[in-house]
Amino acid sequence: MLELLPCILFITVICSGKRVDYGYVPNGDNPTLYDAVEDPILQLDQDTFADTVYNASTAFGIEFYADWCGHCRKFAPKFKEFAHNVKEWKPVVKIAVLNCADPYNEQACAENGVVSYPTLKYFPRGSAGVHDGIEYKELNSSAVVLIDLLVERIEAEYAEQRYSNWPNIGLLGDESTYDDLWKGIPYSAHYLAIVFGENEEHHESVKLILDLSRYHNKLAIRRSNFTSKLAKIMKVTQSAVIVFKRDDSVLILNSRIGPDVHHKLENLATTGDSFLALSTTSTTTMATTTTMAPWSCKRNPDKCETLYFVSETDMLKAMRYALYNDVPRAGGNFTGHNLTALKDFLDLLVNHFPTEQFAYKRLHDKGSKSIKKHELTFSSKARDFFAEMREFVDNETANNANLTAAKWQKIFFKTEKRMRFSSFSTKAKWQHCRGSSKNFRGYTCGLWSTFHALTVQAYLDNIKNATFQPLHILHSIQGWVDNFFGCRHCRDHFM
Ligand SMILES: *[C@@H]1O[C@H](CO)[C@@H](O)[C@H](O)[C@H]1NC(C)=O
Ligand SMILES: *[C@@H]1O[C@H](CO)[C@@H](O)[C@H](O)[C@H]1NC(C)=O
Ligand SMILES: *[C@@H]1O[C@H](CO)[C@@H](O)[C@H](O)[C@H]1NC(C)=O
Ligand SMILES: *[C@@H]1O[C@H](CO)[C@@H](O)[C@H](O)[C@H]1NC(C)=O
Ligand SMILES: *[C@@H]1O[C@H](CO)[C@@H](O)[C@H](O)[C@H]1NC(C)=O
Ligand SMILES: *[C@@H]1O[C@H](CO)[C@@H](O)[C@H](O)[C@H]1NC(C)=O
Ligand SMILES: *[C@@H]1O[C@H](CO)[C@@H](O)[C@H](O)[C@H]1NC(C)=O
Ligand SMILES: *[C@@H]1O[C@H](CO)[C@@H](O)[C@H](O)[C@H]1NC(C)=O
Repeated sequence: MLELLPCILFITVICSGKRVDYGYVPNGDNPTLYDAVEDPILQLDQDTFADTVYNASTAFGIEFYADWCGHCRKFAPKFKEFAHNVKEWKPVVKIAVLNCADPYNEQACAENGVVSYPTLKYFPRGSAGVHDGIEYKELNSSAVVLIDLLVERIEAEYAEQRYSNWPNIGLLGDESTYDDLWKGIPYSAHYLAIVFGENEEHHESVKLILDLSRYHNKLAIRRSNFTSKLAKIMKVTQSAVIVFKRDDSVLILNSRIGPDVHHKLENLATTGDSFLALSTTSTTTMATTTTMAPWSCKRNPDKCETLYFVSETDMLKAMRYALYNDVPRAGGNFTGHNLTALKDFLDLLVNHFPTEQFAYKRLHDKGSKSIKKHELTFSSKARDFFAEMREFVDNETANNANLTAAKWQKIFFKTEKRMRFSSFSTKAKWQHCRGSSKNFRGYTCGLWSTFHALTVQAYLDNIKNATFQPLHILHSIQGWVDNFFGCRHCRDHFM
């Protein structure tokens, strides 16, 4: 009874185990080889091992040691050096130890199958139990080797899981516009560093990203090899780090990967780029900033339209295909759901298809306070055309009469000719939605751009409207996709 009492009193602390973090002093009787304060190493014990390591939000690198084992004592300084080197990686992986010589931890060590010391294991993030641990073969490695082994594991895990809250250590691939490069990077990040490297620089670049991931709100870092589109555009053939500043695609740093790069990037993240003024001399064979000119949006705004504009031509082409080809695809009569969907979508186009260039000021009229309206004449005509087709649907379906898909298509074509609606022409080329291949990419891009523009325009049209029902707009778009979108996979995904 007396012995049970403390256990009941401290039930949550001692008896049920808990998740612990750095600084925790482990239970047990034996001395430990690590220091809770000095070493960035999490010391586990029987009570805390499972709760800390399993189902956790980070991966774990763990050493199972025995305090009396001479080899473990010799190895401890290497393991400490390793832990110090990767201490900034703790949002991704934590370094921990368990003293298996302490009888207190007997069970945890037995469960982990530890029969010799030291035993090193990696537990991927979210490991559910002992069986997820991956044992290392190197047992006397230097800190450098341990770091490389850890990088390999993290890379493999990232390739499989792509955790969105891990730093992006994947390689750049087909990104070919400045816009693409910045995708997924928080807006607060003003700098984007790209580390080009293969072979020995390969691990260096992952380390750099993990080391500096704590600055991810200021500085984004991506990796690339020499076969990425960017490497080709910029003619990069040897290892290098380049840095762009947001909204200004001129390179602000172009440097070799060396010991000072870590420091330079850290400076950039913490104090900005003014310190670079004198040190941006190019030391590689990389193309100079002049070949980047097409990406300098300040100097060549027209070349950066994709960053700011939706193309009128793309929207008209997309709507032409959506209404003429996709809408009647199923054939038969428009009845019930699909009749309602057709009417609602036409209403949306009639009321909110953009007819003015609302972002005009962004590039052409910087100083002025008033936004210059710039009428889109083809789009104004398109609205008239949509209105005519909407009326036609009403006429045809009055008194519960049926409208056939064939008739819809026939009248569409006739009306288009009569209204001389040339920009609906299928001959115009996709502009911003031009794909790298000739499949439907242009259309889906145009479609999604138009949906987006419609929601923005509907919002602008109703800023002062207290009874505005924004969901109605979305339902009209959803209704069109659900009933008419020819790409089944995209439709299901969208729904
Ligand atoms: C981890 O989660 C799995 C599945 O959710 C569960 O079966 C297991 O008991 C959990 N382990 C621990 C130590 O919490
Ligand atoms: C471990 O490596 C050190 C040098 O780093 C060496 O002196 C020692 O003999 C090695 N021990 C074993 C058991 O291989
Ligand atoms: C370079 O990166 C691309 C994109 O991730 C990848 O497909 C390719 O295999 C890489 N090439 C080399 C040599 O690593
Ligand atoms: C409209 O829905 C009906 C009933 O589901 C179907 O038979 C018909 O093919 C559809 N028409 C069009 C043009 O989608
Ligand atoms: C469509 O409607 C017409 C006229 O109402 C009718 O004759 C025809 O059978 C219908 N077609 C289908 C496929 O239901
Ligand atoms: C309209 O077409 C539907 C089937 O598409 C049919 O069931 C209905 O009878 C037709 N209505 C008229 C008035 O023809
Ligand atoms: C719809 O019907 C009205 C009245 O019959 C007619 O004036 C109008 O031209 C028709 N509209 C269309 C687009 O067919
Ligand atoms: C305000 O929104 C309602 C609901 O969407 C709409 O019916 C009405 O026409 C709008 N009023 C104006 C002035 O646009």
